[in-house]
Amino acid sequence: MLYIPIILGTARRGRQSEKAAKYMLEKVKKAKIKTGFLDVRDYRIRATDNTQKIPKAQKLGPKIKRADGVIIVSPEYNHGYPGELKMMMDMLYKQFHNKPVGICGVSAGGLGGARMVQMLRQVCIAFHMVPINSAVYFSNIQDLFDSKGNIKDKTYHERAEGFLDELVMYAKKLR
Ligand SMILES: Cc1cc2nc3c(=O)[nH]c(=O)nc-3n(C[C@H](O)[C@H](O)[C@H](O)COP(=O)(O)O)c2cc1C
Repeated sequence: MLYIPIILGTARRGRQSEKAAKYMLEKVKKAKIKTGFLDVRDYRIRATDNTQKIPKAQKLGPKIKRADGVIIVSPEYNHGYPGELKMMMDMLYKQFHNKPVGICGVSAGGLGGARMVQMLRQVCIAFHMVPINSAVYFSNIQDLFDSKGNIKDKTYHERAEGFLDELVMYAKKLR
């Protein structure tokens, strides 16, 4: 069974991107793939020196190493990725090598975090990861889900499923 965890890219209180992350989590579960959240809230650190040795890195390391691929769901902050996401990733290095990664952008506006996705792909290459071409852009996030967490715009289903198909294809090939 494949294992594809979902990294939640922001710890912000009241974060809207959690709704998109939950939506993706259900899609991955439905595809009979083992998954779960790796939440930046659980891996926040204050400095990036000697991080491989700290307990949080030692807790995260085996989870990334075991993964067949990774999904990152992150908001766009000032046209980039949240600093705490980068610090979380910087705790590790080799554990990320050769993993396919799919990125889902989230924003309150219409672009769905597209600028963040482009930037984060470059960072992922530095980790020797394989960023996939597909992305899911969750725009107008504050209005995208109903109070039960159901997505209102049903066109997202096809996009999310196509994204996952591409990620799984790479995960199987790179395994
Ligand atoms: C510090 C900060 C910077 C932001 N910068 C952007 C931005 O560059 N582009 C954008 O579309 N939305 C931006 N937003 C708004 C987010 O799109 C909005 O908060 C959305 O709900 C997703 O982020 P969240 O998961 O933190 O809620 C910013 C929000 C914060 C808190």
